[in-house]
Amino acid sequence: MLPEDEARLQLIQYSGSILEFAGYRYIETPAFEDTELFTRGVGESTDIVQKEMFTFEDMGGRSLTLRPEGTAPVCRAYIEHGMHKRPQPVRLWYWGPFFRHEAPQAGRFRQFAQIGTEVLGSDDPAIDAEVIALLADILDNAGVRERRLRISSLGTAETRREYGEELKTFLRGRADELAPDVQARIDANPMRAFDSGDPGTQRVMKEAPTLLDRLAADDAEHFTEVRALLDDVGIAYEVDPGLVRGLDYYTRTVFEFTSDALGAQSGVGGGGRYDRLVEQLGGPPTPAIGWAAGVERILLAGGGGPGWERVPPVFIAVPKEERRRAAFSLWRSLRNTRPALIGEPGRSMKGQMKQADRIDARWTVIVEEDGFELKDMESGEQRPVATADEVVKAVIK
Ligand code: HAM
Repeated sequence: MLPEDEARLQLIQYSGSILEFAGYRYIETPAFEDTELFTRGVGESTDIVQKEMFTFEDMGGRSLTLRPEGTAPVCRAYIEHGMHKRPQPVRLWYWGPFFRHEAPQAGRFRQFAQIGTEVLGSDDPAIDAEVIALLADILDNAGVRERRLRISSLGTAETRREYGEELKTFLRGRADELAPDVQARIDANPMRAFDSGDPGTQRVMKEAPTLLDRLAADDAEHFTEVRALLDDVGIAYEVDPGLVRGLDYYTRTVFEFTSDALGAQSGVGGGGRYDRLVEQLGGPPTPAIGWAAGVERILLAGGGGPGWERVPPVFIAVPKEERRRAAFSLWRSLRNTRPALIGEPGRSMKGQMKQADRIDARWTVIVEEDGFELKDMESGEQRPVATADEVVKAVIK
């Protein structure tokens, strides 16, 4: 982040204000955690745990990992700090750096920033719709181009296991019509077949049984309700039964926002329910849902903050070194009025006036022996002003 990348800071601040306004409270977790939190939380078989974690040993021989994501750490904090005793649900938001050892390319970095939310302690479908709506608002307000929303439901782990077996049988029966890489992954990850770009595979997958058709009655009802709520408020989405997320903890609702303006890395943000994770990590049964969005990807997709209304500054020109103290006092007096910057005492007036132009100063105050000269940089008009108080009053306009 360089000074000219200020859109990034605006985006984070603006997103934070949308979430705070919706009653979400800010949480910060450490940059690294015990490795076990992620192996257990994110899942042994995921790409993240298998090959993307920056893991190291500390001097005490403990295995630590730079956080690849924020959900497991927030659940750990929820358990460790007894947040289940607070009024439920607990609505949280965060932003910060995350780390994944991936091959860097446009929109994919080894250190990237996420803005995220987690709502713990409710399985109400209205919470699903709420978090989805908030991410839609953030992306729309940021100006993300060509944004699309896909949603699905994964049901429970048991439903998924049974469905996985059914899908494997189906794929084995049509193996000769599938791309070789899809064939090779039938046993390890049959769901990935839905993601294949191969036309033959795509034809087969149109006839494949979907998990959505196999959901238990209460899971199906939950999904119907989430959809109805999104419909009611006019949030457009596409139901994608093949939606695959790269983390193991999901149950029921999953969703992903993409931007067609991005290339291969089109996912700007995504998330879902993880109703069993808190319990798996040693806490009480706690249904929960959340999402995370990539700051760099939002910016790449054309999003930024709404733009700061910059208050044009006052430049304080200091013709002589002896005027430094008077200039500093004036700078202090101006602090609640306008941003103010002091020139370098003794530097040529020409050089200092050039600096005033360069920062787009609204006013320049020249600190003289016996008072001040106030220059209106818009009209070019200049007049003497006797006291610092009068300068403060004059530049408020
Ligand atoms: P995720 O889909 O792995 O979910 O990451 C969320 C977002 O982080 C992605 O949509 C993408 O914008 C950004 N992202 C991920 N990896 C990279 C990378 N290498 N470079 C740049 N951006 C990246 C999670 O992390 C879950 N914790 C979300 C969640 C919260 N689910 C429930 N609660």
